[in-house]
Amino acid sequence: MKNDVTKTPVAVIGASGYTGLELLKLLITHPRFDIAYIGNTKGGIRTEELHPSLKSVFSGDVLKSDANEIAKVAKVAFLALPHKTSMSFAKKLLKLGVKVVDLSADYRLELDTYEKYYCEHEDRENIPNSVYGLPEFYRQKIKNTSLVANPGCYPTATLLGILPFCDFIDERYPIFIDAKSGVSGAGKKCSEKTHFVSIDENIFAYNPLMHRHEPEIKEKMKQFSGKDFDVNFVPHLLPIIRGEMIDSYMLVKEEGLNPLEILREFYKNEPNIRIYEYPIDMKSSSGTNFCDIFAKVVGKKLYINSAIDNILRGSSSQAVANANIMCGFEENLGIPIIAYVP
Ligand SMILES: NC(=O)c1ccc[n+]([C@@H]2O[C@H](COP(=O)([O-])OP(=O)(O)OC[C@H]3O[C@@H](n4cnc5c(N)ncnc54)[C@H](OP(=O)(O)O)[C@@H]3O)[C@@H](O)[C@H]2O)c1
Repeated sequence: MKNDVTKTPVAVIGASGYTGLELLKLLITHPRFDIAYIGNTKGGIRTEELHPSLKSVFSGDVLKSDANEIAKVAKVAFLALPHKTSMSFAKKLLKLGVKVVDLSADYRLELDTYEKYYCEHEDRENIPNSVYGLPEFYRQKIKNTSLVANPGCYPTATLLGILPFCDFIDERYPIFIDAKSGVSGAGKKCSEKTHFVSIDENIFAYNPLMHRHEPEIKEKMKQFSGKDFDVNFVPHLLPIIRGEMIDSYMLVKEEGLNPLEILREFYKNEPNIRIYEYPIDMKSSSGTNFCDIFAKVVGKKLYINSAIDNILRGSSSQAVANANIMCGFEENLGIPIIAYVP
């Protein structure tokens, strides 16, 4: 049967990585996007050789990534690349009229913050044009931009839990964020910490109180509320492949807060947020674009518990939702909702 829906051609750059594979999986069956360009560092390989799980499902040439060639065939480019590499592609692609969803940190932060925590920025002029890709908060701006800075995985889960409470938090006291992630959050390159022998049957904190996602959370809380919160963030690595859970602790100004009522009202029209009346588990959001949230108040103590799949809601499915919005499609087109349970 003739398929008469016009599809928008897209590029996946960084297709050999973890988020790149998730992008391919989502885009293969997407009703309005067509994979027109697949790139990594060297190219010269087929997708099913890179990812044997795609054998008999999808087959395409993986090319040495080239911005000019991408612009000839694609209208939207997903950059699943390390920071710094991403901006070198984004800069050229935007000039050539290609819309960009960048999964790296390159356009998420204000210039000073970025350069303090990452490196010198080589595309300063595009920073003010970028929109932070958290659809629940920036949907209207995402519609009108050519450059989405897809949020970090930890900031996605943390901010979706905390932002509804900004008016109630007592900013005189610190906020503590205890985060746990599966190992895919670190990307495919193996290190001492992500080595099977180090992480299996183990758990440990890394970069406590100095992880790069701490300034991202702080900056976005300030942009949203106008307040300078004292954010303290400690991530941990778990011996699992995917999933992230956040436990945030803070003090509110007054007793008697009903946190679930606040969350339900705040997210009443949001299909990708699920509010629970009991502490959540990580696996129920694994394989989906949902952010699951529970919250509880005792006196002035507020506890917020949120979970996402880091390589979906924390990166690739959020990126596809952002591209849907940028292209005027329904936001949840091709977005996964069934969890990998059991
Ligand atoms: N993993 C997560 O949970 C997660 C969540 C949110 C955001 N992110 C961000 O998303 C980005 C990708 O993360 P990831 O975990 O998917 O990383 P990854 O597994 O390490 O993959 C990185 C990809 O980038 C490609 N690449 C590197 N340099 C390149 C170049 N010069 N030209 C073309 N391709 C190049 C690699 O290709 P080769 O195989 O050829 O080297 C690989 O395909 C990062 O910025 C990361 O911080 C990741």
